[in-house]
Amino acid sequence: MEQSTTPILETTVRPTSILTLGLFALSSLFAVSPAMAETIPIDRISHIHDLAVDPNNPSQLYIATHEGLFLTAADGTATRIGDSTDDLMALATDMADASVFYASGHPPVGGNLGVLASRDHGVTWENVALGTGGPVDFHAMAVSRADPETVYGMFEGLQVSQDGGKSWRKVGPLPEKTFALAGSARDRDTVYAAAMGGLFFSRDGGAHWNAAFMDQHPATLVAVSRDGRIYTFLYGVGLVVRDESAEKWEVRSTDFGDRYPVKMAIDPTDPDRIHVVADTGAIVTSKDGGRHWVSYMGHDRETPELIAGARKTFEEYCQSCHGENGVGERPEDGNAQDEYGFVAPALDNSAHGWHHSDGNLAYTILNGSPRNPRMLPFKDMISEEDAKNTVAYVKSLWSFSSLACQGALHMKCMH
Ligand code: HEC
Repeated sequence: MEQSTTPILETTVRPTSILTLGLFALSSLFAVSPAMAETIPIDRISHIHDLAVDPNNPSQLYIATHEGLFLTAADGTATRIGDSTDDLMALATDMADASVFYASGHPPVGGNLGVLASRDHGVTWENVALGTGGPVDFHAMAVSRADPETVYGMFEGLQVSQDGGKSWRKVGPLPEKTFALAGSARDRDTVYAAAMGGLFFSRDGGAHWNAAFMDQHPATLVAVSRDGRIYTFLYGVGLVVRDESAEKWEVRSTDFGDRYPVKMAIDPTDPDRIHVVADTGAIVTSKDGGRHWVSYMGHDRETPELIAGARKTFEEYCQSCHGENGVGERPEDGNAQDEYGFVAPALDNSAHGWHHSDGNLAYTILNGSPRNPRMLPFKDMISEEDAKNTVAYVKSLWSFSSLACQGALHMKCMH
């Protein structure tokens, strides 16, 4: 990678925290037991281990969790698929029609699940193989984009199946501390591994590995689209993209603060639409190939038309106190401060707006603040839809790290 494209983020992130936290060490502080509730807010789910886009409705995501498989909706809820509560560590599917889901992991009672396959999008699972030295507990899986019968799994090194998961062969060791695997869209023997020492590729089905970059930034994820676009996240650099046939990598975005994505799913209908799971467990979405990010929750409201409309609402009703672009009121502003000296808070990145869920923010807008009468109830002036769209507008001012820390997840972001 060219040095000139490598940003100076290294001064603001702390590469050691990745070591001390561990990539998947998520606190389950706020987890409820999904077994008790069929549909729950996504930010209450602990441990999203993997995700895949629903090809029939690309605004929905299948998420493999500590307590089974869920289908998410853009309103921020997730609904359990089937009745398994197994800890699914990996989920992989042929992106084209997702006719087969592969998964692995371990049941709540202990032991390993081996290789599971589902032909009904996760409602029922069949145990198709034990895997080599199994039953295996694959912590990463990938289906080749070039040949959907070729499936890779990580368990004591790399294993491969070339008959759709029925039989498995041990290939050999993976790069040290591999976090994720992805198959090439061009050739079934080309496979990528995101690892602590960077991104690696193999052209011989995983027998030999080469480093993709000279400088060793941990690569936390790798994903390949149907048309051969490789996305990887390099800790300390940012989201990096290349077409499989191109020479050069492009740094797409660098503004991740202390946060980093750990899993990615690419929309099979549009490789610019990507969804990542952040280290906090939040799902964050980009519609333009990773240049800008919105939270998955409410991303259907983040259309140019709705945001432009909500911006007008904001300018008309809110800006007089909350400032242009939500920068907040300054004490020297005309009628700022009530008798107790409080000003209207910033609603952009700089404040604590992101401590609240979308629902709470919309509630405050409609019902006002019980603590400060200057924050009026707006429910007679704007509709509930307008309030929700205004929340989307405010969130369009937030960075990846604020989005990744919103609502119940913000406790994971306190230092
Ligand atoms: C007359 C001034 C004023 C106007 C107009 C106003 N606000 Fe507020 N707003 C405030 C004040 C003051 C607070 C702090 C309330 C508190 O401390 O409880 C506040 C708080 C909020 C909060 C909670 C922020 C947090 O971090 O807890 C949100 C969200 C909010 N306003 C959104 C809006 C929106 C959206 C509009 C326009 C529809 C709006 N406000 C219009 C003064 C105003």
